[in-house]
Amino acid sequence: MKNFRQYTPTEILFGKDTEDLTGEEVRKWGGSRVLIVFGGGSVVRSGLLKRVEDTLVAEGIVYEEFGGVHPNPLMSFAQKGVEEAISFDADLILAVGGGSAIDTAKAIAHGVANPEATLEEIWDGKIALKKSLPVGVVLTLAAAGSEMSNSSVLTNERTGKKKGLGTDLNRPRFAIMNPELTYTIPKYQLTCGIVDIMMHTLDRYFTPVEGNQMTDRIAENLLQNVIENGRIAFKDQTDYDAMSELMWCSSLSHNGITGLGGTREFAVHKLGHELSAAYDVAHGASLSATWGAWAKYVMMAKPERFAQYARKVWNVEETDDIDAAIAGIEKTVEYFASLDMPVCLPDLEQPGDKGKVGVLSEEVLYELADRVTAGDTMKISTLQPMNRE
Ligand code: NZQ
Ligand code: ZN
Repeated sequence: MKNFRQYTPTEILFGKDTEDLTGEEVRKWGGSRVLIVFGGGSVVRSGLLKRVEDTLVAEGIVYEEFGGVHPNPLMSFAQKGVEEAISFDADLILAVGGGSAIDTAKAIAHGVANPEATLEEIWDGKIALKKSLPVGVVLTLAAAGSEMSNSSVLTNERTGKKKGLGTDLNRPRFAIMNPELTYTIPKYQLTCGIVDIMMHTLDRYFTPVEGNQMTDRIAENLLQNVIENGRIAFKDQTDYDAMSELMWCSSLSHNGITGLGGTREFAVHKLGHELSAAYDVAHGASLSATWGAWAKYVMMAKPERFAQYARKVWNVEETDDIDAAIAGIEKTVEYFASLDMPVCLPDLEQPGDKGKVGVLSEEVLYELADRVTAGDTMKISTLQPMNRE
């Protein structure tokens, strides 16, 4: 087990009607002038935004709306939010939505507290980030885990790069999580979410570090729970218990605890971010489309680890490690396919929700490989370091 530091300060308010407590929470965390950040309108149509605003008014809190965040959120849009928040003199940023609204809210909070720097400079590490504004969350989609994570992921259109900023200043002060709010998510977003939740643990699980028994057991149980409840939710996304399990797992899978003592790998996320930046592929789809090929390529670096995954998560009974490892990978890919998710790059070339990519010629693939390795100057992952080739 490697040394680790874990910091999970986010207060969780979980369950039915918890959004009614938003005003009280904002007040408790020092907010009196709130910028509310949301997406393309789902929270307006569902009436959630109005209900949340009513709780602010009841506490005498003033607010301004900043809607229109796009999935795969843009840095330029967040920069506009910074200007808006400064001119409104906001003292707390409240995200109402999924990962994209939350990540934009986090970026706005950094920008307001550090007006001498642009978000691009902050993301490029040009200033040492030492302060931010408090961020609160009303979550509407179980997926990214941003409601507890130390990360915010934005696409910089100028450079074409989608990149996460990791800092404990990204941890929200509170997250309100009512599973009923997720009943209305489009099926494709539900399944993208299931993949993303699994992938936050999988991208931590395959590490060269040995002897992380507690962390492994947390990870393996979380994965089994997501797989089981994902199946139920896929059939009926108004099943309160299944949607609750997914929602809580989304937070636990990305607040850090499923990888403590290991190395931070995130290779598949890095591959996926290139597809999302270049083609606006939904985050979860970018991961399911790459995981199987990644796993088959990397497996031989540590077959016993993949065999452990197969046995503990998928109850594979093969005694030979390599056979077990292959069976575990196949079961995972079959599971993603059963959720109607893309499981290879050609799947992304199909028309429809998934098909935003066009033909991935060899030339295009080399261009993406160039980007993810910064022109072959960087390797990704430590379990099986990968260069451009
Ligand atoms: O924009 P609106 O109209 O709200 O619609 C959204 C959006 O179209 C819709 N939606 C959300 N909740 C809904 C709903 N529709 C109906 N009813 C509801 N209750 O779903 C669509 C997707 O929303 P988005 O916020 O983009 O989804 P998600 O939560 O999956 O977030 C994805 C983003 O998070 C980043 C991803 O890269 C991606 O940009 N990630 C952030 C992480 C972090 N900060 O720690 C970690 C992740 O690995 C990930 O990279
Ligand atoms: Zn993710």
